[in-house]
Amino acid sequence: MKEYSAYINGKWAKAKEKFPSINPADEKPIGVFQKCSREDVKDAIDAAEDAFPKWSEIPAPKRGLILNEIAAELRKNKESLARLMTIEMGKVLLEARGDVQEAIDIFEYMAGEGRRLFGNTTKSELRDKFCMTVRRPVGVFGMISPWNFPIAIPAWKIAAALICGNTFVFKPSSDTPLCAVKLFEILDKVKVPKGVANLVTGPADVVGDEIVRNKKTLGISFTGSRDTGEWILKNAGIKKICLELGGKNAIIIMDDANLNLALDGVTWGAFGTTGQRCTAASRVIVHRNIKRKFEAELLKRIRKLKIGNGLQRNVNLGPLINKNAVEKSMRYVDIGLKEGGKLLCGGKRLKGKGFFFEPTIFTNVDIKARIAREEIFGPVLSIIEAKNIDDAIEIANSVEYGLSSSIYTGSMKNAFKAIEKIDAGLTYVNASTIGSEVHLPFGGVKKSGSTREAGIEGINEFSDVKAVYIDYSGKLQRAQID
Ligand code: UN1
Repeated sequence: MKEYSAYINGKWAKAKEKFPSINPADEKPIGVFQKCSREDVKDAIDAAEDAFPKWSEIPAPKRGLILNEIAAELRKNKESLARLMTIEMGKVLLEARGDVQEAIDIFEYMAGEGRRLFGNTTKSELRDKFCMTVRRPVGVFGMISPWNFPIAIPAWKIAAALICGNTFVFKPSSDTPLCAVKLFEILDKVKVPKGVANLVTGPADVVGDEIVRNKKTLGISFTGSRDTGEWILKNAGIKKICLELGGKNAIIIMDDANLNLALDGVTWGAFGTTGQRCTAASRVIVHRNIKRKFEAELLKRIRKLKIGNGLQRNVNLGPLINKNAVEKSMRYVDIGLKEGGKLLCGGKRLKGKGFFFEPTIFTNVDIKARIAREEIFGPVLSIIEAKNIDDAIEIANSVEYGLSSSIYTGSMKNAFKAIEKIDAGLTYVNASTIGSEVHLPFGGVKKSGSTREAGIEGINEFSDVKAVYIDYSGKLQRAQID
């Protein structure tokens, strides 16, 4: 079995203990990885701290050139990276290619930001005084990312951190260390200077814990569960904390919607990536006039979906990430049944090897039911009936999350009501809840988090803004007084 290293201070590094990464489609190990210790993480953080002054002094457009090289290498290796991703994480090949493409896009986008990194100028309240803001890097960033977008999400963080002049220590999910190693092979190849980018693989309670608590990490960028996000807030101390947490994203379907389009959107949003996106559609709020027809048509589509190994052509749903994920979906099916939801289809894991789970739909779900409120992160969809647009929006907002949302409607009025009134970081009109693009901000409200990644707003996550006052009057001028 091939052994893969961590990457600390520009060198491939070994730890004392190891752990395997498993292919969720056949449960076979695909490689052995380093279980980094607290000391390993501290070494990585120290290396990042040492590398910071030099890296941050390189002009941002020059750092951008390196980002472009990373993008070019990703493009060259897109197909092989996508295949490895399917093998390690399970998503179907078509989607894995999209994941790598998203990484290419963000590196190219952030490379361009190197020639902007805008601040503002504004007027002073006093004469002969000039005011502006300038951006500065934060310092050493700690990054912790999930397995569901094992190259794209790290890329969102890494590209933005690097262009702003930060150095970093990155811990990938222990379900997808191979994708992380492959990304670092590229960083190594394009000669990101030593110490600037560090990869520490291993368990959250050691590696993640050290990254979060260590006094030298001045920023933390985390994508993952709400519970871990809350833990980070309590344990990180005072530093810049950026959180992308869960979702319970709703698609509203009004009775004036193009039903075929809505059916496409629901099928893709709920069962793409086997429901394992924080932006996945896990609730459909459907107008009562069309509920019956919608359900009948949806079932026809679901029956056509093929479950299997994501490397095979025509497979729509790959496996869930691991055994725990299967058990979690099973548990929520039980809860849904006990709560009185009507199971329209699915509800079972597939027999044999691999963590496969049927696309599962509950209808007549009460808005207070746990399956209508809690993030399942699997292919389990709840259908809820609404009387009108205001009712639908109220239901959409009745959960504690607020990441993505969508409305299918033919009416401008309904669309704008949804845009204005849904509490979420993203609202799609006549499109599903998934499929954000890298030049727009990504992130949530309420328990989904409060910061934004990607786009120009993503620069804020990885930089600080300094206010600068230049007084050229030659005399003491007192703001608020003179
Ligand atoms: C996630 O859902 O975990 O919008 C990230 C999308 C992707 C990113 C999703 N561009 O679905």
